[in-house]
Amino acid sequence: MDEPLTNRIRLLDLHPPKANFREDALAGLRADPKSLSPKYFYDVRGSVLFDAITALPEYYLTRTELAIMDQHLGEMASCAGPEVSVIEFGAGSGLKTRRLLAALNDPIAYVPVELARDHLLDAAETIAEAFPMLEVLPVCADFTRPFQLPDPDRIPRRNLIYFPGSTIGNFTHRQARDLLQVMYTEAGDGGALLIGVDLRKERRILEHAYNDAAGVTAEFNLNLLARMNRELNAEFDLNCFDHRANWNAEAGRIEMRLVSRTEQVVKVAGEPICFARGEAILTEYSHKYELGELAALAADAGFEVARVWTDADSLFSVQFLTRE
Ligand code: AVJ
Repeated sequence: MDEPLTNRIRLLDLHPPKANFREDALAGLRADPKSLSPKYFYDVRGSVLFDAITALPEYYLTRTELAIMDQHLGEMASCAGPEVSVIEFGAGSGLKTRRLLAALNDPIAYVPVELARDHLLDAAETIAEAFPMLEVLPVCADFTRPFQLPDPDRIPRRNLIYFPGSTIGNFTHRQARDLLQVMYTEAGDGGALLIGVDLRKERRILEHAYNDAAGVTAEFNLNLLARMNRELNAEFDLNCFDHRANWNAEAGRIEMRLVSRTEQVVKVAGEPICFARGEAILTEYSHKYELGELAALAADAGFEVARVWTDADSLFSVQFLTRE
């Protein structure tokens, strides 16, 4: 009989401090200005809504990144070389990862690193099923801080860090530089980074991508309030808040907020939270980069941009960064 997958997958649990939705939400709502972390978007409902966003006509990011990958997978694989260990920061749907692994020449291991254990194990199993010969070594850890890597049975020629989806955009430039520094450390001698980065473009395209006609992004944003109602006994009336997403050209980012339509007091985990009319909760930054800006950040962290692939309209980029 076949060995069950769960026996074949060796989890390295570094016991990261569990994200505390209640504490984080209350702290964010007590602060001035109010904010909530975008990491809390992705409960079951939020993940379904995010998948719907990736299929929207206005949301060019996912489809463009996939097209770039498909068109240049051969070159990406030859940049990476044979017998690499692929270390993915975060565990997504696995679609791009599967294509990358299929294109690589004899990859020796897949190491997804993710805080949410259930997402992590799902991702690990999906890949293990699709690549029965590949060693799959999930790590439960907070990837924004240096962590211990597992030792694959076979010794890789190099580590290839994979960070798709322009998740880097959620971080401020300072945080992004710190994260690139962690990646530099984890990549090790001769290691490399393959990263998806969304690019600066005209306001109209950007604001449409985050204010879709079908209202899915609004629902995704408002789901944070619905999630607090479900999990924290909060009493938000979703009709009393508006979704807003604006391009801040100076800071080079989309800023997403939930704006109170009225003066109101809302109970959250038993605590009254006061909103002035028009007061906003900041829920997400999505930074967009000039190629030069990203190269400068990468250089600060010790990386060199070796290759950049973009689509014909320069909407999105996939970049190959190397370290000595
Ligand atoms: C998954 C962080 C890349 O910033 O575009 C989509 C999340 N927010 N629509 C992004 C998101 C609103 C997305 N990232």
